[in-house]
Amino acid sequence: MRATNPISKVRDHSHTMTQPETPAHYTDLDAALETAWNILAEGAGNRRVPTHTPTLATIGTDGAPRMRTVVLRGFETASRQVRFHTDRRSGKINELRADPRAGLHVYDLQRKVQLQIDGRVHLHMDDPLANQAWQQTQPMSRIVYQVTQAPGTVIDSPLDVTHDIMPDTGFNDGGSENFLVATLQVETLEWLFLDARGHRRARFTRKGNAWPGTWLVP
Ligand SMILES: Cc1cc2nc3c(=O)[nH]c(=O)nc-3n(C[C@H](O)[C@H](O)[C@H](O)COP(=O)(O)O)c2cc1C
Repeated sequence: MRATNPISKVRDHSHTMTQPETPAHYTDLDAALETAWNILAEGAGNRRVPTHTPTLATIGTDGAPRMRTVVLRGFETASRQVRFHTDRRSGKINELRADPRAGLHVYDLQRKVQLQIDGRVHLHMDDPLANQAWQQTQPMSRIVYQVTQAPGTVIDSPLDVTHDIMPDTGFNDGGSENFLVATLQVETLEWLFLDARGHRRARFTRKGNAWPGTWLVP
């Protein structure tokens, strides 16, 4: 016999005045997926929201998980691809060359929604996408790509970071040779909404352009 949890029964009064309005995604899978895409689009487009800096996970060359913060530079709504920029000499790129599978973790505090994304990363170097992104980077952001040593190189002192200075100008306008645009194709997306009335969890899996989804026990 199926027993109903008395607590969740008591709490499931979504119509009471004391509760905030029930979002559509509370009982609607399509709305849950739409919320997820909106979170990614907003995170890419607004540098003031915390979802602008999600956590990217890769598989270390030793098989252990590796995580780091990246700036969400773009979200292609048609293809459901997330974009970030990095140094092609970085550890994460070595890892992605060996295994392109990656995870992306986003928590939207305002919406109380967590996204756990699995996908595959495509590396763009010296192609139209990378060239255009490089043209659009600010001089300040280029400095990190102009360091002569690879990111993560052991140094004796923090002052040992060196830049190739051009003799006549005293500055360096290079860096594009180290720049890379990575696109993560979303393959599966798990959505979790925490709510006092009862949590909600769903998983969506890409089938071509369709995203069939299912509810999961939170
Ligand atoms: C707020 C914030 C934003 C960051 N954005 C990026 C980014 O967009 N690209 C990047 O390569 N590293 C970024 N980093 C640095 C990474 O978290 C990480 O330290 C670095 O890329 C080296 O990681 P790896 O050795 O795993 O490659 C950011 C760090 C912080 C704290």
